[in-house]
Amino acid sequence: MSPVILVVDDKESFRLNLERYLKQLEYEVVGAGTGEDAVEIAKKIVPDVILLDLVLPGMNGIEVLKQIKDNHLDSQVIIMTAHGSVRSAVQATKIGAVDYLEKPFDLDKLKITIQQLLEKEKLRREVEYLREEKRGKIKIGMDYVVGRSKNMEYVYDIVAKVARSDTTTVLIQGESGTGKELIANLVHYQSPRAEQAFLEINCAAIPENLLESELFGYEPGAFTGAKRRKLGLLELADGGTLFLDEIGDMHPNVQVKLLRVLETRKFKRVGGTKDVYVNLRIIAATNRDLKEAVRLNEFREDLYYRLNVMPIQLPPLRDRKEDILLVARAFLDERSKAVGRTIRGFTEAAKKVMLEYNWPGNIRELKNVIERAVILCSGSEIGPEHLFLDTATIPIEIESHPSTDTILALSEETESTGIYLDENTPVHVRLPEKGMPFNEMMEIAERAIVEQALALTHGNQVRAAKLVGVSRQSFRYRMNKFGIRSQDIMDSDENDDV
Ligand SMILES: Nc1ncnc2c1ncn2[C@@H]1O[C@H](COP(=O)(O)OP(=O)(O)OP(=O)(O)O)[C@@H](O)[C@H]1O
Ligand SMILES: [Mg+2]
Repeated sequence: MSPVILVVDDKESFRLNLERYLKQLEYEVVGAGTGEDAVEIAKKIVPDVILLDLVLPGMNGIEVLKQIKDNHLDSQVIIMTAHGSVRSAVQATKIGAVDYLEKPFDLDKLKITIQQLLEKEKLRREVEYLREEKRGKIKIGMDYVVGRSKNMEYVYDIVAKVARSDTTTVLIQGESGTGKELIANLVHYQSPRAEQAFLEINCAAIPENLLESELFGYEPGAFTGAKRRKLGLLELADGGTLFLDEIGDMHPNVQVKLLRVLETRKFKRVGGTKDVYVNLRIIAATNRDLKEAVRLNEFREDLYYRLNVMPIQLPPLRDRKEDILLVARAFLDERSKAVGRTIRGFTEAAKKVMLEYNWPGNIRELKNVIERAVILCSGSEIGPEHLFLDTATIPIEIESHPSTDTILALSEETESTGIYLDENTPVHVRLPEKGMPFNEMMEIAERAIVEQALALTHGNQVRAAKLVGVSRQSFRYRMNKFGIRSQDIMDSDENDDV
């Protein structure tokens, strides 16, 4: 993902020379000959770096800089100033330019200045990301769990108690989207282990052997390819909490080994002979009925009892109707704030629709519905027409295809078959003839939008997140959810030569 540089200078030969030079250094380069053009382009693509000439016909460089700042574009601006006008360059740094170069300047110097700037910026973003991530989690732990129904009060009560006894194993059960992961976080961040690691692994998503080495680690030579010792999550989470998600799908061989850890608090690395002792809390979650899985001989009974020391059952949203409007309201506030809109609330009709719906996807579904409604609603209140709870008519084009598989593959295909939003085309959805669950369709749309945002911004996650009006964190969450790496987008982009 090459950084994007915007070169602003009215002297065309000078500008083109610079552009050529920077392209050689493998940057993406865009040029502008006037201040007005520069502002327009900057707003559209938010370049990483702007090289800005101060003296321009019409809107001058200082004006351009002000516009960049007023629009909160996080581009780094380097001023290019003619000999003798250093004073205005200094003025520019006061209003937010990061550096200035006196013309004529050495190209090597320019190269180094840009490199250092990008390095520093990358570091700053990483630090900010880590801080944000941490804040996000703590927020989850402190005040972000919404819902005041009797059912949930009971859950919070158990969470508070179990958080304090910090070696107790916790088993969280509930339908998909009921908040199991959130509650696992809550237990950890309210516990004395809060400052230690909270690590998680999805036991359903990876094959048996890999799960085993992820959990227990391995010694060199344990299997072909095991060159160095690798520590497993059990060891890495020592002192903290390990969250085993989807434990109901854990392979039986791994179940036996996990049982031993729970009984003895020790284990051996794969290929190892020495016992490793750990002090950690295990939280497991599943949306399967584990007791039923035991009955069907799909889950070990002994492990079930070991895990079930402190069970937490999360009620489906339809069984805590008191929470629906409360949670909807909280998400509405959060979303409208995030996209800078003031939406007063829901119409009575919208409330009725939400209360009567049965929410198979629980809180996650409600969250998605609200997120979409905020985008679709142009007035000051969300109406039922923005909710699309049980109709397949949503304003996104999904081509009708015979099987789910082809549909899922679509997002990687061309515009003619994919999902696309286009200002000029009235857009609508076509449900495949065989039918398809609402959530799945939304996921396809979501995935395609994430991919498009990344393609449009050449893999720049910050800008992509901005394009779709979500925080970088929540954008990253979606990328992870769909297994999208910005690198992939860039690669395919470059191969296609667009
Ligand atoms: N009480 C709540 N208040 C606010 N947000 C919630 C609440 N419960 C769940 N959420 C949000 O709903 C979404 C789904 O929650 P989570 O991932 O914890 O569900 P889950 O039970 O682990 O689902 P799955 O079984 O599909 O993994 C998350 O975005 C989470 O933040
Ligand atoms: Mg989960």
